[in-house]
Amino acid sequence: MGIITFGVLTISDTCYSEPDKDRSGPCLAHLIKQAFSNTQIIEAILPDERDLIQRELRKWIDKKDVRVIITTGGTGFAPRDVTPEATKPLLDKDCSQLAMAIAIASLQKTKLAALSRGVCGIAGNTLVLNFPGSEKAVRECFEVVRDLLPHALHLLN
Ligand code: MTE
Repeated sequence: MGIITFGVLTISDTCYSEPDKDRSGPCLAHLIKQAFSNTQIIEAILPDERDLIQRELRKWIDKKDVRVIITTGGTGFAPRDVTPEATKPLLDKDCSQLAMAIAIASLQKTKLAALSRGVCGIAGNTLVLNFPGSEKAVRECFEVVRDLLPHALHLLN
């Protein structure tokens, strides 16, 4: 892969008001840098607000150099968890098998993985992935996609 830009979007009311509490966003950025040299990372933290999430995602998707966006948080069953609902309308293509691969690997770690509703899909030339909000979950989910990303991005070109 040449130089590509990843977007890391933390979605959490708590982290939005207290950014120091964001563990999963920085962890994700670290894992990306470790796995892929020649990457730029843009990061943001938003509260669990559908419109704000959608506006930021749209902005990033429209940037030609942003090839992968990974969100963390807001995928669960709580009333304010709206990350999948914010993401889905922006997708041109659903990558349900990728979400399934993440779910299968995650379920081998914890049954609680069944409580994530995260989606994966393609918007323009950008792959968008919803990960859960914990550092542990982010590590486990990233492990699944890490080896798939170079080929996925090659096909997306
Ligand atoms: N997936 C993995 N791989 N590892 C985990 O620890 N935690 C689960 C699940 N998915 C978990 C996981 C839990 S406890 C919840 S509540 C849901 O993700 C939703 O998390 P979110 O609301 O922070 O997105």
